[in-house]
Amino acid sequence: MKKIIITIDGWSSTGKSTLAKQLAKSLDYVYVDSGAMYRAITLYFLRNHVDWTDQKEVKKALSEINIEFQNNTKTETSEIYLNGENVEYVIRDLVIAEKVSEIAAIKKVREFAVAQQQKMGEQRGIIMDGRDIGTVVFPDAELKIFMTADSSVRVERRFKELFEKNPNVTIEEVKANLEMRDYIDSHREVSPLKKAKDSFVLDNTHLSEREQFQRAQEWAQKKISGGL
Ligand code: CDP
Repeated sequence: MKKIIITIDGWSSTGKSTLAKQLAKSLDYVYVDSGAMYRAITLYFLRNHVDWTDQKEVKKALSEINIEFQNNTKTETSEIYLNGENVEYVIRDLVIAEKVSEIAAIKKVREFAVAQQQKMGEQRGIIMDGRDIGTVVFPDAELKIFMTADSSVRVERRFKELFEKNPNVTIEEVKANLEMRDYIDSHREVSPLKKAKDSFVLDNTHLSEREQFQRAQEWAQKKISGGL
């Protein structure tokens, strides 16, 4: 059967990765969380006190970073490794979320990540979520989905997720973080978040996970069989 590329872009906490994982499982495709790559780079910069306003330091730091995805056989989903260390969970912390958009706006950082992302898609049969996947990374993808939801719903979802891991987190800081990231992500010079013209919009404010999955799965099946 024909293998296609599916891109899922959208605002923070719109459930992109949940949908991407479900689709990848049902189609037996590779799932790549591009946001995890920017989060892992941010983790490296913070741990190593990299001054990211200095181009030379950024270049040197990037040359020391190796990012890989490996399948976790228990959860049956891919997890990110930074220089051999599984950082899938530590990169979800709010400390990383506070800096990631600033770092993801750096041209050299984007070039580094995008080159690897494009390589991962060479064989097609891939689902990647992020901000610029349908516009910059795979402009020729067969199916592009753009996800959105009311901001209060998104804040509530992300707060629940973070609160489970850290009960000290407040809803106000989660809200401020999402607003800040959405602003930086959509206003940066290089590859800003925007809806690709040929994308399908999925507003899941009032949709259950199951409903949104069914809708996306229908689009994917039609694209794979050439009927859309
Ligand atoms: O899960 P959530 O939607 O909150 O964010 P994420 O996908 O983990 O991405 C974290 C951050 O990485 C975003 O806020 C962007 O600043 C950046 N990012 C990006 O610039 N380009 C991408 N393709 C993916 C993420």
